[in-house]
Amino acid sequence: MAKITAGVATSHVPAIGAALDLGKAGDAYWKPLFDGYEFSKRWIAAEKPDVVFLVYNDHATAFSLDCIPTFAIGCAEFFQPADEGWGARPVPVVEGAPELAAHITQSVIESDFDLTIMNRMEVDHGLTVPLSLMFGQPEAWPCKVIPFAVNVVQYPPPSGRRCYNLGKAIRKAVDSYGKDLKVQIWGTGGMSHQLQGPRAGLINREFDTMFLDRLVNDADALSMMPHIDYVREAGSEGVELVMWLIMRGALDAEVEEVYRFYHVPASNTAVGHIILKNKS
Ligand code: DHB
Ligand code: FE
Repeated sequence: MAKITAGVATSHVPAIGAALDLGKAGDAYWKPLFDGYEFSKRWIAAEKPDVVFLVYNDHATAFSLDCIPTFAIGCAEFFQPADEGWGARPVPVVEGAPELAAHITQSVIESDFDLTIMNRMEVDHGLTVPLSLMFGQPEAWPCKVIPFAVNVVQYPPPSGRRCYNLGKAIRKAVDSYGKDLKVQIWGTGGMSHQLQGPRAGLINREFDTMFLDRLVNDADALSMMPHIDYVREAGSEGVELVMWLIMRGALDAEVEEVYRFYHVPASNTAVGHIILKNKS
């Protein structure tokens, strides 16, 4: 049977991808950030997941303001890295897992979460930067990826509670898939950041630390936190953190914290990263 073995959360700051692609990862500004992912790269090389179910947000790349699905699942064979204005990132094409994606789609929709099915989709920094942070710069990504896009760009995004319960439905779907597969679920985006307006540059280490602590040990109650608290405390783009609750909802009630990393500065965002493992 397929099994969700671990959850990973990480920020997706686009400048991290640019730093890596332009050979600047060793620069004084970026080195401490990339050093913080060395453990994770070793860890995932040993874990060898077959599939990553990658919860992320599109930044008006695949979806324009003409059409904005709240939840969209990538069911294609391949997903091309998108051109976000500077040419596509020089990263491998993302290989999908269409059969598992179709199974999850059916199971999750039958659990009353209406998903948009994407049979063709380009993926932006929201998806490729987390892959780069966890896998570095390989010739090909070492596992298959099911992209799962969440609207956190156009108000209203889904609530934290909806995301957490969706994670549970995804868990049920993976658990009921007959083939032996090691599946990881990733929640990406965050942590505190605001990119525009008078509060641009907002960072809130205290809030971010509280969020990480409660994500591990008090996730059910954390999922009740309303949007306004994310926006006030973590900035307008801090609401990306609801995606971490999808990841957390798909894990056991009790998890082991394998690793945590928090780093400022990285562009305008507080970079947070955590690895959680199911105990069972
Ligand atoms: C930045 C962060 C983001 O999450 C994003 O989507 C774009 C830019 C930043 O910090 O520069
Ligand atoms: Fe973002």
